[in-house]
Amino acid sequence: EQPLSDLQKEIVALKKERNAVILAHNYQIEPIQKIADYLGDSLGLAYAAKETAADVILFCGVHFMAETAKIINPDKTVLLPDEDAGCSLSDSCPADKLAAWQDAHPGIYTVAYINCSAAVKARSDLICTSGNAVKMIEKVPKDREILFVPDQNLGSWVARQTGRPMQLWPGSCYAHVLFTARALEKVRNQFPGAPVVAHPECTEAVRDLADEVCSTEKMVTFCRETPADKIIVVTETGMIHRLQKEIPDKTFIAGPTETCACNDCRFMKMNTLEKVRDALRNMTPEISMDEELRRKAAVPIERMLEWSR
Ligand code: 13P
Ligand code: SF4
Repeated sequence: EQPLSDLQKEIVALKKERNAVILAHNYQIEPIQKIADYLGDSLGLAYAAKETAADVILFCGVHFMAETAKIINPDKTVLLPDEDAGCSLSDSCPADKLAAWQDAHPGIYTVAYINCSAAVKARSDLICTSGNAVKMIEKVPKDREILFVPDQNLGSWVARQTGRPMQLWPGSCYAHVLFTARALEKVRNQFPGAPVVAHPECTEAVRDLADEVCSTEKMVTFCRETPADKIIVVTETGMIHRLQKEIPDKTFIAGPTETCACNDCRFMKMNTLEKVRDALRNMTPEISMDEELRRKAAVPIERMLEWSR
């Protein structure tokens, strides 16, 4: 394995000095993954944020993830290396539009995928991630009608898994909808017998071709346990680094789009080692929010953390 670069060593030293923990999502660039104290999916990261004893959480992911860490950990300083690292899926459900929809449908039970703003969380009854969506939907009281926001793809997948009908917000992840069934079929023909694992944010046509549909963390388990030694992985490219590191004796083939053999999320890729270093050095950009909003947004997140154990 490559030794740490000078910049990575500088970050490790600053981290100690600040009593900081680095939490990174599986889609981060490989040099960031390498210096992370915890690397995982949204659910694992939420638990890691809740349980850390550090004073500072440096969150290498996108804004809603860092915001979630702050909501459940208000006394800690939460830093995001690039404050513009947003999420197209989160942006597809503005809180005022959700409020108008809810006003027109009194009594609706709102389940929000964690990829949404604090203001949307504050208007939701329950949060879920791709790792626990089925389990969370099964907990919703049977007599309640469900609105699922903001991802229509995860929503339609979970509706099918649970047999529970629900209203779907028309949002999607710009990166995951770029994977097409046609491009995937071509790669499958090149690697006959290789199982396909896909993220539930992919379209139904792509999910229908997959042997397993799951969160990024569960992809690690699937790839480890399958007897196959070549696996087609239909999600953001950063995932391939994590899989290669943990399962070095297998081959991972990135899922293709119509125009590219792989697929980066432009928001996840905004974080760089330089920005990580500068964030720890300058203790900015820091996540902050109105306390009343934070308290409201914490309710459905805490409910999820409790129900998901
Ligand atoms: P996971 O929770 O499965 O890692 O997904 C997060 C995400 O943003 C997928 O695009
Ligand atoms: Fe958002 Fe999609 Fe990027 Fe995940 S991959 S952070 S859902 S834009």
